[in-house]
This record gives sequence, C-alpha cells and structure tokens, in this order.
Amino acid sequence: MAVKYIPEPFRIKMVETIKILNREEREEKIKEAKYNLFNLKGEDVYIDLLTDSGTNAMSSEQWAGVMRGDEAYAGAKSYYNLIEAGKDIFGYEIIQPVHQGRAAEKVLFPLLLNKGKYAISNMFFDTTRAHVELAGARAIDCVVEEAKDPSIRAPFKGNMDVEKLEETINELGKENVGLVVMTITNNSAGGQPVSIQNMRDVAALCKKYGIPLNIDAARFSENAYFIKQREEEFKNTSIKDITKEMFSYADTFTMSAKKDAIVNMGGLIGIKDNEELYLKVKANCISFEGFTTYGGLAGRDLEALSIGLYEGQDEDFLKYRIGQLEYLAARLDEAGIAYQSPVGGHGLFVDAKALLPHIPYNEFPGQALAVELYREAGIRTCDIGSYMLGNDPDTGEQLKADFEFTRLAIPRRVYTQAHFDVMADALIAIKERASSVKGYRVVWEPPILRHFQAHLEPLK
Ligand code: F0G
Repeated sequence: MAVKYIPEPFRIKMVETIKILNREEREEKIKEAKYNLFNLKGEDVYIDLLTDSGTNAMSSEQWAGVMRGDEAYAGAKSYYNLIEAGKDIFGYEIIQPVHQGRAAEKVLFPLLLNKGKYAISNMFFDTTRAHVELAGARAIDCVVEEAKDPSIRAPFKGNMDVEKLEETINELGKENVGLVVMTITNNSAGGQPVSIQNMRDVAALCKKYGIPLNIDAARFSENAYFIKQREEEFKNTSIKDITKEMFSYADTFTMSAKKDAIVNMGGLIGIKDNEELYLKVKANCISFEGFTTYGGLAGRDLEALSIGLYEGQDEDFLKYRIGQLEYLAARLDEAGIAYQSPVGGHGLFVDAKALLPHIPYNEFPGQALAVELYREAGIRTCDIGSYMLGNDPDTGEQLKADFEFTRLAIPRRVYTQAHFDVMADALIAIKERASSVKGYRVVWEPPILRHFQAHLEPLK
C-alpha cells in the first residue's frame, strides 16, 4: 500500500479498557436505542467516532497543568497563562475564555446580528447556524461548488465561493449583512480546508462593504497544516506563522477548544483590537458564562487549554494526525469505497449515497450505514445528510441534503493503527453485502434537532 501509517509521536502512559460486545448483543443494543446511535451507552461502543469534540486524550503536560490550575474566582494565574498563549498564537489583543464553542457564539453573535440581518458563511456548523437564528438573523451558506461533489479532488474544498458571496451581499444589501463567518476547517463539507488566498479575498470583500469577518476556529491547526501542504506560498512557513496570517484577516473569532486545542471542555472568543466590542462581550459573558477571568471554566481547564493550544500546533503531531486519516482513506481507495475526497482533517465522510445507491434520501442512507457500522464492528458514527437535516419547518416535509455522508470523526491521540484497520475492514465487509442493507423511517421525532433524539425503525 502506497500510504504508510505515520507512527505516533508519543507513547502511552495511561489506558482505558474498551470491550466489544458480540454481534447478537450489539443487535439487541441498537434495537433498544431505537436505531439512534446517540441513544447508545458509551460502554456499549467499541470504537467511538461520534465526534472528535471533547473526546481527545490529554498529555502528561496537560494533566500536570490540571494539578497547577489556579481556582481563584477573579484574576487566576491560569487565566493569565491562557491569555498569554492566546495572544501569542492568534496575535489578537483580546482573548475571552468561555465554556465551549456554542457559548462563544451565544455571547458574541447577538452583539453583531439582530432581526432582519443576515450572516453569510462558507458553511455554518449546526449550532453556529442556530445562534445566528437565535439572534434573530438568517444564515446563508456560500461554499464553493466543488465541495458538493465527493469525487472531485480539489485542495481547498472548504473555501468560500467569493463571487457568490459578493452577489449575495449585493442582493441582500450590504447594510443587512451583519457578519461573514469563515469556518476553518469546513466541518459540514467534510473537514475541508480554506486557503489563505480565499481568506484574503473574503477579507477584501468584507473591507469593501464594511462587514465584520469572524473565524469559526474549531479546527484552526488542521487548517494551517493543510495550507502548508497545499498552498505553494506557504510550503516553508511554520504552522505558527500560517496561523497568525490566517487570523490577521479577521476581526474576531469564536472557537470550540474541544477540537484542535485537545481538551475535553473549553472555548474562546478572540477580538483583534476592538475595546468597545470587548466591553459588550464581557457584559454578556458575566451574564451567561461567569466572571470574565474564568468564563464558565474551572482554573484547571484554563491551564490545560493554554497547553493544548500549543500541542495542537505541533507539526509532528499534525503530520501523524492527518496521516491517520490518509491511511484510512488509502484503504478505502483500494476497496473502491467513495468518501468526501481528499480526506478531511478531523474525519472521513463516507459517501453513503454511493455505497447504498438503492436507499433514497428519505430512507436515510447515511444513518443506515451508521447503524450498519455498529452492527458490524461496534463502531459509532453519525449521519451528516438528510436524516440530520430534518423537515422543512413550514411544510413538515423531509428536506433533501446536498450530501448523504456517514462521518467517522477521529478523536485526537486516542486510537491506533489497528483500530483504523477495524474501521476499514468493517466498511469493506458492509460493501460486500451492501444491497441487503435496508433504509429507515422515523417513528417519533422532537420538533427541532431531531437527529439527537428521534426513534427509527428499519424498513422491510
Ligand atoms: N463550530 C464548529 C465548526 C464545530 O464543529 C462545532 C462543534 C462548534 C462550532 C460548536 O462547538 O460543540 O464546543 O459548542 N462540533 C462538534 C462536532 C460538536 O461533532 O462536529 P461546541
């Protein structure tokens, strides 16, 4: 095989036992869970790829930081350590901790958006879209067209369609666009990166029309690594300098630290240099999150986060991390299994529509494959497709998604090469019996964000 697994740049100091149930037990558990993987108990899962968010393994340095955490209510040492790290990495004057990514959105977005306004992104993550809407505004995606075809191998499928962005701004009227958001990497399109050139073009448009630019920075280090690999101008630039350059184009950022900052809980807001906005952020933060110097986190969390920010930028780590995904992708290439290609930074998004062509969108191919992966090998994944999208709020009709993906999201520093082989072998085994895999129907659903709670039933 052409792609070799990159050896782990760490050794293992502590382990957590996982058990695999047998096939009959798994069949029983998934039935009890109403064929919804969110309803499974974690202990009934062998390899948990539901998300890469907050599921990372911290380092011995981070655990040492946990012991050093300063729990002072105001002005803790751990807060100042985090602020120093944030300023150093992002080059922003103002860094505000919060308890996770959606908290950053909840604090910042109502200050920039209100009823009648629009926010435009390459692609909004679901909670980000929800917070735009909770602020009274509407969210619009403007991702490049090639992102919508899993078989097109383009280097920066996460990019904003700049022409479409400008058209949209003109259609809506620049005074009605409250915010542009660049999601790096672009999670919903498959963990696909955004180029510096695209950041520059979007920043220039935002400047031209006087619209603030926010980065949704959950996977900023993975994005920087892809830039180094794929954007000629930056092939000899350090990850740290690429990161600084990326953030230099925006005015603010919101960040879930549960991804690239390799912690189990945490988030950040960054403001380049706007004291007036900071005053309002602090006021919201105190109401929703806690006093400004802890922002909803324990001192020990602040300490682990300030260390994790640097560890996530380490080039040996990133090479190994992206290497794991490339190894899995190469195994699927050999087996002729399609996925959003090239493979993304935090997960592999299997093209369930291609693997299960007999299952139409309204019988949820991405969910059917997710259930099958649990049956086959105790692997938990999730649907990123029509099942997740839900119903039209006006007509109640099932919406049809652009993609039907099953996402294998990879926690950082948790699984080894042998686990990756289990994932590939399971997908190959399912491919062999693909035509016998059945679709699903929803038998009960809550009014919003139904995929977390819905009950399903296999079709005959
Ligand atoms: N933005 C992006 C791009 C995300 O992927 C997420 C979370 C958030 C914001 C919200 O952050 O969870 O800390 O509140 N994504 C997770 C996922 C949940 O599984 O992709 P949060």
